[in-house]
Amino acid sequence: MKSVTDLGDLRGRRVLVRCDLNVPLDGDTITDDGRIRASVPTVNQLREAGAKVIILAHLGRPKGKVNSEFSLAPAARRLSELLDAEVTLADDVVGESARATVDALDDGQVAMLENVRFEPGEESKDDAERSELADKYAALGEVFVSNGFGVVHRKQASVYDLASKLPSAAGGLVEAEVEVLRKLTSDAARPYVVVLGGAKVSDKLNVIANLIRTADTLVIGGGMVFTFLAAQGHEVGTSLLESDQIDAVKGYLDEAASGGKQIILPTDIVVAPEFKADAPATVVGADEMPADQMGLDIGPESSERFAAVIEKAHTVFWNGPMGVAEMEAFAKGTRAVAEALTKVDGLSVVGGGDSAAAVRDLGFADEDFGHISTGGGASLEYLEGKDLPGLSVLAD
Ligand code: 3PG
Repeated sequence: MKSVTDLGDLRGRRVLVRCDLNVPLDGDTITDDGRIRASVPTVNQLREAGAKVIILAHLGRPKGKVNSEFSLAPAARRLSELLDAEVTLADDVVGESARATVDALDDGQVAMLENVRFEPGEESKDDAERSELADKYAALGEVFVSNGFGVVHRKQASVYDLASKLPSAAGGLVEAEVEVLRKLTSDAARPYVVVLGGAKVSDKLNVIANLIRTADTLVIGGGMVFTFLAAQGHEVGTSLLESDQIDAVKGYLDEAASGGKQIILPTDIVVAPEFKADAPATVVGADEMPADQMGLDIGPESSERFAAVIEKAHTVFWNGPMGVAEMEAFAKGTRAVAEALTKVDGLSVVGGGDSAAAVRDLGFADEDFGHISTGGGASLEYLEGKDLPGLSVLAD
């Protein structure tokens, strides 16, 4: 992969930069600006090199239609604050406004195109349609820098096709993320513990299959744990359950046992009668969940055990909250895991969107961890050993 410095003298050149500015919003308010902050060093590097910087990014899933709800305006405003410089947002993606905005740029200035997913070609499965849109992006710039790590697993026009239309390089964020993930896949100091949470087992089945082979211990919490408990024959009440995944999960439990790997599940669960912040919560054994209650967090005994396993590891990768972390009553498990990660003597990696937002929300600082990835789906697919189109297209 080429670096920005391999692109030669960028003074006065129009540089298209793909960023992942897909941040969580509450109305117009950004609730976690981690991805925008992570984009700043590369944007500044390009400004300092005298480039005319043109940012391409997406927000949410507007599905090829212009929809003001998904405008990049809040992201442009926040980026402008962080850069302490104007960021001009075009009214469209590749239309008249985009062309005029780019033409008005001086050396070292920054513009942003509107949400690339307003264009139907961006996410099209049809290669020709994507390529046609990528030609329009390419006409706006002279050089391409891929810096949106969170989206490199998507074969999309601004991530994949554009890279083969112009001289291209990986931005500093993509390089840093890949370096950490490469360590996890090829050079992890042992014990290597992976902690997985979040709602759905089905999203994580492939990564579990791979991790049973590469990690020493898998620790499982979050909504997906109930499919594991059900696979062991336990009652899981009204908890999240993916019945169609029970057989696959049984297979993983067997494979881990025969391969000498540990899959650690919670031994106690915080349950409540309904999914509500103030629902009356009680702690029960994981093998005695009442039929009319749902599990919303791991219990205190499990938190302690998970923390002990994590703290002894030399490499930890964590993706997915242990419970409903946005509700105080059900955030204790996630907090305990985050706390334990801060004590790891070695490399601790928080993987992705939800987990990153959860740790910041709980008051942890980015510096408390070895690395906070900006890509949830992307980092999991990397660990699965999948080909990531946005990275392979940059390979020399
Ligand atoms: C993410 O939020 O994981 C990335 O921005 C990719 O978004 P997507 O899942 O909508 O493609």
